[in-house]
Amino acid sequence: MAVARRRLILSLINNLSTLVFYSIMNVLVGCEYSGVVRDAFAARGHNAWSVDLLPSDRPNPKHVQGDIFDMIEGDWDLAIFHPPCTDLAISGAAHFPEKIKDGRQQRAIEFVERLYYCGIPRICIENPVGVLSTKSRIGKPTQYVQPYEHGHFETKKTGLWLRGLDPLVPTDIKDLTGLPKKVTQRLHYLPPSPDRWKIRSTTYQGIANAMASQWG
Ligand SMILES: C[S@@+](CC[C@H](N)C(=O)[O-])C[C@H]1O[C@@H](n2cnc3c(N)ncnc32)[C@H](O)[C@@H]1O
Repeated sequence: MAVARRRLILSLINNLSTLVFYSIMNVLVGCEYSGVVRDAFAARGHNAWSVDLLPSDRPNPKHVQGDIFDMIEGDWDLAIFHPPCTDLAISGAAHFPEKIKDGRQQRAIEFVERLYYCGIPRICIENPVGVLSTKSRIGKPTQYVQPYEHGHFETKKTGLWLRGLDPLVPTDIKDLTGLPKKVTQRLHYLPPSPDRWKIRSTTYQGIANAMASQWG
């Protein structure tokens, strides 16, 4: 009986300290099938949801398979969006003329602008180096991050456009000196497969952890 009472008291204190010291946020992770960022915030106690047209690779009741624009009206404190970069990234520049001509690039830009200006108080848009910097209303990214700044032995220069958020501080810088490109540019060397695009666009765990620990 005494043990049960002590457990109850300890659990009450624990819950109280959680309420006092942490503010639980409603976090929307848009255009995320992987669940990596959603789960990093959930692990810190936040009410984190992912939304994508695709099902989640980590099935979870807090994944909505649907259109992100049907979800942005909610009571969100923070949103992290990973909009498609197929028509925006500089790596696909060879196809820009046709994508400009048929309007695909402009539609992709407007998709991102709509997310950035959606009114959620804290916003992060994540996208590779591309035309957003020069052709969109959101302008240059607030910062570029690299996986090697957050515990991975790899490079992938990624822009973060931030509103109401501080730039991420590196959490675990890795020295890539002497490492073969097959390691540091692993994603370039992936063999063809139906999942190749998914593997290439999944958020690095170290970056997701940094977002959750520094913004959560
Ligand atoms: C570059 S991937 C981002 C992947 C992300 N980094 C992750 O780890 O899951 C872009 C994603 O946007 C999704 N998407 C495209 N249009 C969407 C929309 N209107 N609503 C929700 N998701 C959308 C695609 O299905 C795709 O999974």
